[in-house]
Amino acid sequence: SRSYPVYTLKEVQRHRTLADGIWVTLGKEVFNITEFVDMHPGGNRILLAAGGSLEPFWAMYGIHNQKHVLEILSAYKIGEL
Ligand code: HEM
Repeated sequence: SRSYPVYTLKEVQRHRTLADGIWVTLGKEVFNITEFVDMHPGGNRILLAAGGSLEPFWAMYGIHNQKHVLEILSAYKIGEL
């Protein structure tokens, strides 16, 4: 497995607009999902997680607990915490 750049939470939190890029975390992984926002089947709600953790939202919307959803997300990985 390749190694990724390490980011701080502060740096993730600075990325919560389309202009700055939309970053999210899941566990210790960091994703730049800017390009996915318009393709999200759940619409603009995805922006609630911008700059932070997906966990609380994915706990509410269990539909994300599927292999194919994690495969989509993994394509946007840019780093680790
Ligand atoms: C549905 C991906 C973040 C709310 C979906 C589906 C995918 C997806 C692939 C369709 C699943 C299926 O039907 O099998 C993602 C990814 C996310 C993300 C990759 C983050 C990078 C969020 C967030 C929320 C959310 C943060 C809520 C705050 C929803 C809802 C649906 C959905 C409500 C159901 C839409 C419907 O079927 O009408 N998401 N999601 N998602 N997502 Fe997300």
